[in-house]
Amino acid sequence: FLSLCMYIHAEFYVIDDLIGLGRRFDGIGGLSGGGATSRLLVNYEEPYRSQILDYLFKPNFGASLQILKVEIGGDAQTTDGTEPSHMHYEGDENYFRGYEWWLMKEAKKRNPDITLIGLPWAFPYWLGKGQSTPYHVRDITASYVVSWIIGAKQYHDLDINYVGIWNEKKFDGDYIKVLRHTLDKAGLPDVGIIAADGNWDISVAMELDPHLNGAVEIIGVHYPGTNTTPEALSTQKTLWSSEDYSTFNNDVGGGCWARILNQNYVNGRMTSTISWNLVASYYQDLSFGGDGLMTAEEPWSGNYVVESPIWITAHTTQFAKPGWRYLQTIGHLSHGGSYVALTDGKGNLTVVIETMTHEHSTCIRPPLPPYSVSPQNATFSLKGSFATVTELQLWYSKFEFQHSKHTLFKKLQTVKVYAGFLTLSLDVDEVYTLTTLTTGQKGQYTDPPNSSPFPKKYLDDFNVRNPAFDEAPYFADQTGVFEYFQNLTDPGPHVFTLRQVVTQRPIAWANDADQTISVIGDHSWEDVTVSCDVLIETTNSGGVFIAARVDKGGESVREAMGIFFWVFANGTYRVTNDIGGKMVRAEGLSGTNAGKWHTLTLTVKGQWAYGILNGYPLWENAVILNPKNGWAAIGTYSFEYAQFDNFQVLAD
Ligand code: GAL
Ligand code: CA
Repeated sequence: FLSLCMYIHAEFYVIDDLIGLGRRFDGIGGLSGGGATSRLLVNYEEPYRSQILDYLFKPNFGASLQILKVEIGGDAQTTDGTEPSHMHYEGDENYFRGYEWWLMKEAKKRNPDITLIGLPWAFPYWLGKGQSTPYHVRDITASYVVSWIIGAKQYHDLDINYVGIWNEKKFDGDYIKVLRHTLDKAGLPDVGIIAADGNWDISVAMELDPHLNGAVEIIGVHYPGTNTTPEALSTQKTLWSSEDYSTFNNDVGGGCWARILNQNYVNGRMTSTISWNLVASYYQDLSFGGDGLMTAEEPWSGNYVVESPIWITAHTTQFAKPGWRYLQTIGHLSHGGSYVALTDGKGNLTVVIETMTHEHSTCIRPPLPPYSVSPQNATFSLKGSFATVTELQLWYSKFEFQHSKHTLFKKLQTVKVYAGFLTLSLDVDEVYTLTTLTTGQKGQYTDPPNSSPFPKKYLDDFNVRNPAFDEAPYFADQTGVFEYFQNLTDPGPHVFTLRQVVTQRPIAWANDADQTISVIGDHSWEDVTVSCDVLIETTNSGGVFIAARVDKGGESVREAMGIFFWVFANGTYRVTNDIGGKMVRAEGLSGTNAGKWHTLTLTVKGQWAYGILNGYPLWENAVILNPKNGWAAIGTYSFEYAQFDNFQVLAD
């Protein structure tokens, strides 16, 4: 009688596969790039770097991600920096630049079944043939993208599964068809096209154009707010949230992620959700600091933080593989929250339940309409193939905003199923996984080293013969690309340098500066001395700078302020308060020229700055009121070649 009573007061949810299944589950993923979001990860020492990768990719350990999407670098600023193109200029081909190849291999090593996706945000200038669109000469752009896919296989043995168009830019139906054709011609019929990584509009175009419809395998949208459209559903295509989340990874971020992982299917029938970004491995003061599944932004200390979104991901990924199917019996809970159910079709069942409240699960975008959630009992009635299940494993998370003490991905006692029924008493801000699988594990390494700021004294002579990466440690390119370089004709001291190599403004995604710039260090630095050997390569018009207190990067790089000490090939110098070079604080003759190394030193103390050239004072007592703090930086006057050596910074 008692138990009957309980059932009367609880709400009922049927879990049944006999009425037919729902869509195929395609996996949960992370996005590296768009851009430079994994920049600092590569500079972690072992074992920390491998530990971070394990938390992300190792099956039955942490997030156990099933999809890795990466940026196809285009030499331009794409949110937190630039990523290098495999073709800086026409005829150039190099499949070893950047760190996405490495990351894909590390992911594959841990999970050979992981799905790989490439998507361009920006493109090098040359393929636009003078126009700032990749659609001007469509077949060049298509072969550029297909080369990247072929290069992945040829040089890294990576099979790319899907490729996209142009991140969040207007799609071009003709280009999509050309890309499909180019893939087929290259013997890559299995590489699917995801389009258009923006809103749902493409589904309308697909209904009108059967060729376009044939070319697109998956409709991928960004930040759909868990909803789809009738037009998208009527294409009968696979629907993905191909970029989502982008929320600071505290517990509200974890709540956002829990809610959208379930509700992207419940409300929007989307069968994959990909987090921007994979891991927050970029300076926190760049755009959207900390918006990754976890944080690894201190390679100099080895410190990293496994944040709640990792464990929220595990609630789904450790208990459902791509190829499993959602059941049709999924939906909302009567008192708020949602549940999904998945099966492998061989008797296994996984149910994921979330009860995230509005204020504890608001994502960065789009706005979340109001709703309420309250504690409730939920009784599940298992039918069809699951009628005979007698017990289920139970994994549990709870966010506690009052006591700031949360429970994440904890295995609770096995739940007995009586005559096909089980009841859970659900509180708010919780996630439950009920599953027949016994393989779940909460992976853990001993704590990484403590957090510590960027070293106050730092120098790099760039003397590396065979660098593992083309980027020098900790330099974060914000416009242009800075690569290790070997100066084979140099008589001695500057054989190994760092060189800026982008010589024309790329077909951009964000608003790159007109100058190139790479930042390094600690954004809170105030008084510093920055010093660097510089080589201008462009006669007459060339120029380079070193800088301190650079306050902005990322999408705001054009507005960066700081103290910029420039020298030019025409024999002059300038000190400006801005990267744009308009706010001049000092200027005059320097005797600098192209083709010759010069040593620049910049010291900023309080509101005063002074500069030294080749060991002799060049200017002094420049007044700098703002900014009060920022990174150190190097860069060039325009998109031009230039080299840097023996970079040093000393902060107070
Ligand atoms: C997306 C974009 C990403 C990143 C993100 C930040 O729209 O595709 O590259 O900028 O926003 O929220
Ligand atoms: Ca050197």
